[in-house]
Amino acid sequence: MFKVGIIGIGYIGNVHIEKFASIDDVCVEAISDINLVRLRKAKQKFNINTTYFDHRGLLEKEALDLVVICVANHLHRNLTIEALDLGHNVLCEKPMALTLDDARAMIEASKRNKKSLLIVNNFKWDFLNPLIFQMKSLIDSGWFGRIYHIRLNRIRSKTFPLNDHSRWNLDSKQSGGGVLIDLGPHIIDLGMWLASDYKVSAVFGTADKGLLKLDNIDDFASGIIKLRSGIALQIDLSWSSHHKPSWKIDIYGDKGGASLSPNKVDHENFMLFRLENSELKRKHLSKNFLKITNEKSLQEHVVSCIKRNVASDCSAENAYAVLETILRWYESA
Ligand SMILES: NC(=O)c1ccc[n+]([C@@H]2O[C@H](COP(=O)([O-])OP(=O)(O)OC[C@H]3O[C@@H](n4cnc5c(N)ncnc54)[C@H](O)[C@@H]3O)[C@@H](O)[C@H]2O)c1
Repeated sequence: MFKVGIIGIGYIGNVHIEKFASIDDVCVEAISDINLVRLRKAKQKFNINTTYFDHRGLLEKEALDLVVICVANHLHRNLTIEALDLGHNVLCEKPMALTLDDARAMIEASKRNKKSLLIVNNFKWDFLNPLIFQMKSLIDSGWFGRIYHIRLNRIRSKTFPLNDHSRWNLDSKQSGGGVLIDLGPHIIDLGMWLASDYKVSAVFGTADKGLLKLDNIDDFASGIIKLRSGIALQIDLSWSSHHKPSWKIDIYGDKGGASLSPNKVDHENFMLFRLENSELKRKHLSKNFLKITNEKSLQEHVVSCIKRNVASDCSAENAYAVLETILRWYESA
């Protein structure tokens, strides 16, 4: 049995419990939270044997195959390093950390202890599966020719209440910023993953208070990331806006293009384009293409990579490149 321990049983901690518990031969052995009400609720709901108020109990007493860190962003560094130093493999929530020094210290701890450090990027499994895997295999097969531009947007009209600022996400000391450091890790990673290029040559972007009007918290961000391969990623993000919510990925290649609108993941939401004899041909992806990955969730992917000791799509090195990009984007804004 592959044993998982989870620290931080708030919104995403509960999602992880549910997803890990649904995998064959995986069990959530122990959980920890400083909020006893949340801890008790999750223990009952998911029938978990062991709970800890103090995360050190979980790290010191439990023999685990993986510890998942699901606390506010500013706590990622210390909890991750503690877990690695006590001999655990770690899956830490995004963003990896608030600074590059912290992210480097986490990677060093993973190397020093010869333990895996992975960082969550779950959108491709949770919201875009299987279309995004199909898009990626078409890219890798050369269907689009030379790709020069990928546009990704994730525009929300409402995420947090505009008049209640009690959540840690809205305090920059705990979060490190707003929508860019919150949704940015997912969307930037998706763009770099599609491009198979995590090396950045230039970044320029805006980050605006938008509707929230809070210090150092951006509610809207728009930027261009030029990758070393020459591909440009154009990204728009918003938490709240007087605008229609949207989520779209567009590929521009010199042999073909594509548009993916993941709001409803249906084969009809993936459109391919090709200009032939000056005429634009369009086609939807056929339904029988839609079986591309055996791993139904990020959690399955992580367990499988740790068990087989192979590289993962959630590597700390990729997450470091994504964090560096976000910090450069903030600097330019
Ligand atoms: N991957 C995703 O799609 C996704 C979605 C939401 C949040 N997140 C990330 O997950 C992390 C948590 O976000 P959330 O929305 O679940 O926050 P949350 O506030 O809902 O939950 C955080 C929990 O951590 C607990 N906690 C704080 N210090 C602790 C400690 N020392 N030991 C044990 N528990 C402790 C809090 O009591 C709280 O219950 C953040 O880094 C966020 O960026 C990821």
